[in-house]
Amino acid sequence: MKITNICCIGAGYVGGPTMAVIAKKNPNIKVTIVDINAERIAAWNDEDVSNLPIYEPGLAEIVEETRGKNLFFTTEIDKTIKESEMIFISVNTPTKTYGKGKGMAADLKYVELCARNIAEVATTDKIVVEKSTLPVRTAQAIKSILHNTGKDVKFSILSNPEFLAEGTAVQDLLNPDRVLIGGESEEAIESLANVYASWVPQDRILRTNVWSSELSKLTANAFLAQRISSINAISELCEHTEADVNEVAKAIGMDSRIGPKFLNASIGFGGSCFQKDILNLVYIARSYNLQAVADYWEQVIILNDHQKRRFSDNLISTLYNTVSGKKIAMLGWAFKKDTNDTRESAAIYVADHLLSEQANIAVYDPKVNGEKVQADLNYLNTRSEAENKELVKSYNDPYEVTKDAHAVAIMTEWDEFKTYDWQKIYDQMKKPAFIFDGRNILDPIEMKNIGFEYSSIGK
Ligand code: NAD
Ligand code: UGA
Repeated sequence: MKITNICCIGAGYVGGPTMAVIAKKNPNIKVTIVDINAERIAAWNDEDVSNLPIYEPGLAEIVEETRGKNLFFTTEIDKTIKESEMIFISVNTPTKTYGKGKGMAADLKYVELCARNIAEVATTDKIVVEKSTLPVRTAQAIKSILHNTGKDVKFSILSNPEFLAEGTAVQDLLNPDRVLIGGESEEAIESLANVYASWVPQDRILRTNVWSSELSKLTANAFLAQRISSINAISELCEHTEADVNEVAKAIGMDSRIGPKFLNASIGFGGSCFQKDILNLVYIARSYNLQAVADYWEQVIILNDHQKRRFSDNLISTLYNTVSGKKIAMLGWAFKKDTNDTRESAAIYVADHLLSEQANIAVYDPKVNGEKVQADLNYLNTRSEAENKELVKSYNDPYEVTKDAHAVAIMTEWDEFKTYDWQKIYDQMKKPAFIFDGRNILDPIEMKNIGFEYSSIGK
């Protein structure tokens, strides 16, 4: 099938950047991104591209180049579905918060709604692409919904999971390690492969069966998260043995079989996907009664929770076992640098723990505003919104946030944190002035020479 019109349902962290790059690399294809969230669509259409709903380095430039030419954002979902030959489902698949599988399984209601929407309005043949991360065998359910419309419309279902990481989304999309396409129909697979072939070399476009493709996505995230939990487990051992986790990571990473990436010890991984996808994997394994498999992967999450808790426990015990009434300045709230995304950020959980010990939290993040910080804490429901408002203040300036603080906690590895005038920060903090470097980004010797009581992860 020759593709001239693509529809993407879901204008989020995946739909937005992925479609912007597809549009840039395929000027002859009209790409339209639809969403039920009118506010989000309006932000994507904002004339000033610095107001796009998602911050990703390089994204604003691509949107500026393609928007209004062959990239469009709209809430007209039915019309766009009708006009397209290929439809990407790129909606959120969060962990279920109710019913069977609560807290573990992926909530597929948004995906199912999309499938029903497509089934209802389609009048011509369509290729439906699962871009969202889905449990293995979801394509079966989508197929069943699409094939029971009673209409004379042919649907081909493909799985095409996305491997981009936030903060580097544009680079990851422009230069992917691989593009994975799972499907039954060779014709449909090749139609999608052709879209990518505009810029991705053929040998990096993998074709598999649907189930392998769906499961590969969960597996990739599980393996990546497992590496972080592995090095974080070793970081705790380092703290008891005078080994240095950075030195250990370097030493093992030079083994070409292990490799150097994803070995940065931290306060624990965050982000919308690692935890969600592993919980989902655990749930699927349990549903097949594979207890040993489920327990094995669950440990990655258990260790991650332990790492976050360990960080805040250490902060409290170092501050003479009480943080009550003390100002703790948090540098960073996003779950990693170069994104404004805060979903499952370790900062939220560390702050929540410290707040339960009656700390006063002061937050500065270059891309996250105070409203978002409040919303993230309110979502946990640990205390009233009024209490969160009283105890947590956000600042627009790194020197203001740290003024009169008892401790600075580095939660995100933003590059700018390394370039601050740390002497100035020290001078205006309460003494002794503590730094808890949850990302190991500052120079320990420099910090100690200034006078800080400096501690980091795994040293
Ligand atoms: P997101 O929450 O940023 O965006 C999803 C969008 O879908 C929202 O704007 C929502 O309004 C919209 N939506 C939901 N139901 C809809 C419907 N019925 N019709 C129209 N729009 C609807 O989510 P995201 O981060 O882009 O993630 C999307 C999927 O991609 C998830 O399955 C996720 O696991 C996967 N994924 C995410 C990343 C990432 O870095 N965020 C990377 C790879 C894969
Ligand atoms: C991750 C994967 O890297 C992507 O391939 C995948 O597409 C995506 O999940 C997804 O499915 O959503 P993302 O969560 O955006 O991407 O970012 P990562 O770079 O993987 O970082 C995740 C978390 O791990 C962050 O909190 C980060 O700070 C932490 N991390 C990462 C470490 O603590 N140490 C490391 O060495 C690497």
